[in-house]
Amino acid sequence: MSELPLPVMEHAQLYAQSRSLTISKQLGGGYDGIVFATSRATAVKALKYRRLYCQERDVYRRLQERAIRQIAGFEIPSLIDFSDDFSVIEMTIVTAPYILDFAGASLDQSRPYPEDVVREWLDEKQEQFGADWPLVRRAIHGFEALGIYLKDVHPGNAACR
Ligand SMILES: Nc1ncnc2c1ncn2[C@@H]1O[C@H](COP(=O)(O)OP(=O)(O)OP(=O)(O)O)[C@@H](O)[C@H]1O
Ligand SMILES: [Mg+2]
Repeated sequence: MSELPLPVMEHAQLYAQSRSLTISKQLGGGYDGIVFATSRATAVKALKYRRLYCQERDVYRRLQERAIRQIAGFEIPSLIDFSDDFSVIEMTIVTAPYILDFAGASLDQSRPYPEDVVREWLDEKQEQFGADWPLVRRAIHGFEALGIYLKDVHPGNAACR
């Protein structure tokens, strides 16, 4: 990616200050950013890359417009607030079963993948999710019905139990 990574820790702090919140324990973090719980029992995700922030923000906006809080039995975080200045998204805290992390998702169009790539992907997901894979698959279709195409589906982002 050609963009330079943003200072996520500082952005999380500046966002919290701007909303008179304090950030508490870290809930997670990975390739896309860092996630903290806040003093108002929400989760704040500061994203490392502007493009991924915009993608994730736009998915949360779509879910908010449609008042979606769960899909196929998976809880979805609700958008509370966001900051374009700090590339931060504030959302409700969810507990399993949940699906989150839309930084890799696309809206309204999905590039078709070659058949062998799709087959390999399906095998990988079957192995990762085991008996839960049909449930996750149903949820993926539920997202697609809203024009949301998930790319980064793994047990960290789709917690089944
Ligand atoms: N709203 C939330 N409620 C509860 N837990 C959360 C929430 N948001 C994030 N987490 C926790 O933080 C982890 C990381 O969040 P997220 O997947 O959005 O960040 P990421 O940087 O994209 O991580 P990765 O690159 O590992 O997928 C999640 O797997 C989950 O455990
Ligand atoms: Mg993730």
